[in-house]
Amino acid sequence: MPFCLIRADITGVSADAIVNAANNSLLGGGGVDGAIHRAAGPQLLEECRTLGGCETGQAKATKGYGLDCSYIIHTVGPVWRGGSSGEEEKLRGCYRNSLALAKQLGCKSIAFPLISAGIYGYPVRAAIEVASSEARDFLEENEMDITLVIFDRKSFDIGSEKFADIRQFIDDAYAEARQERERGRRVAEDGRVFNSPAPMAKPKRRRMFTAAKMSECAAVCEECSEDDVSRLLAARDESFSQALLRLIDEHGMTDVETYKRANIDRKLFSKIRSDVHYKPKKQTAVAFAVALRLTLAETESLLAKAGFALSDSLEFDLIVKYHISRGIYDIFEINEALFRFDQTLLGQK
Ligand code: AR6
Repeated sequence: MPFCLIRADITGVSADAIVNAANNSLLGGGGVDGAIHRAAGPQLLEECRTLGGCETGQAKATKGYGLDCSYIIHTVGPVWRGGSSGEEEKLRGCYRNSLALAKQLGCKSIAFPLISAGIYGYPVRAAIEVASSEARDFLEENEMDITLVIFDRKSFDIGSEKFADIRQFIDDAYAEARQERERGRRVAEDGRVFNSPAPMAKPKRRRMFTAAKMSECAAVCEECSEDDVSRLLAARDESFSQALLRLIDEHGMTDVETYKRANIDRKLFSKIRSDVHYKPKKQTAVAFAVALRLTLAETESLLAKAGFALSDSLEFDLIVKYHISRGIYDIFEINEALFRFDQTLLGQK
């Protein structure tokens, strides 16, 4: 997945480059800096001594030593002084310069801590917004797996009215479903009220006709002409991949725009494009629906091609519904909400 959020200790993450939130001396400190130096070992400090420090917003690289990475990229975030001392631009510089350096070093993956959001006091939500908007801008022009590592969950929640609204949306949907079950009755179309739970409708079995099967049928069945066979074949549901490619054309989008907006890796998209029977994961199918800005009904219909549906009893589905029904198609924003609720993120490697 080109951009994802994980909850972890960054010293246990594996990536081509791991970013350190350092200070101007680059000689170690507390927080993530201390943890990285401890995990990498004393040779890291030796190499850091040769670097001559680092300006705020800039980045310098060392080897990875004891960490599971080729490079550690040391960057220095701004100290938060209320927001009017150029903090945001400096913080953006940290991400921009670290990503440029990683690209120059040939890295295909990079993991960032939430720079400045600890000892340096940058407000967490604003820090996440800077990180994800810089990642998004970089990914517009480049290919890289960027992971934002969030260490402590508590701070992630502070001040988000939107998360509270999503919680309410989920709780309302659950409560409605529960009431429906508890009432245990239904009103039939003719007005009769049943006091027992509605009988479950027997799922309809969909007949799958293969081309071979239909030709065979036409050969033996007098009622079935070659014309009928071609008609049946034409009416046969398109696969997920065919539907996706058709929708991309209909929406006047390019492949690149689509997979980038869907937070999908280029290689995976090529696989889907070339394999008409490709069976995507649910989070991949939803990611494409979001990239194409489909309505809820259109999303359901695309998902059905891959054998999925959106239900009112799964948090993942409800969070997706919450955003689509409000016309929010920013995949990073949706992923932030999914992450907050411990759900699988949209997109896929
Ligand atoms: N893995 C991932 N994230 C971590 C870890 C970890 N092991 N430990 C802390 N964090 P901070 P800053 C998170 O204070 O604000 C040092 O002394 C933490 O929860 O490490 O940029 C330097 O030498 C927070 O969200 O860095 C500087 O003097 C984020 O990492 C100063 O601190 C950044 O917190 C830099 O302060």
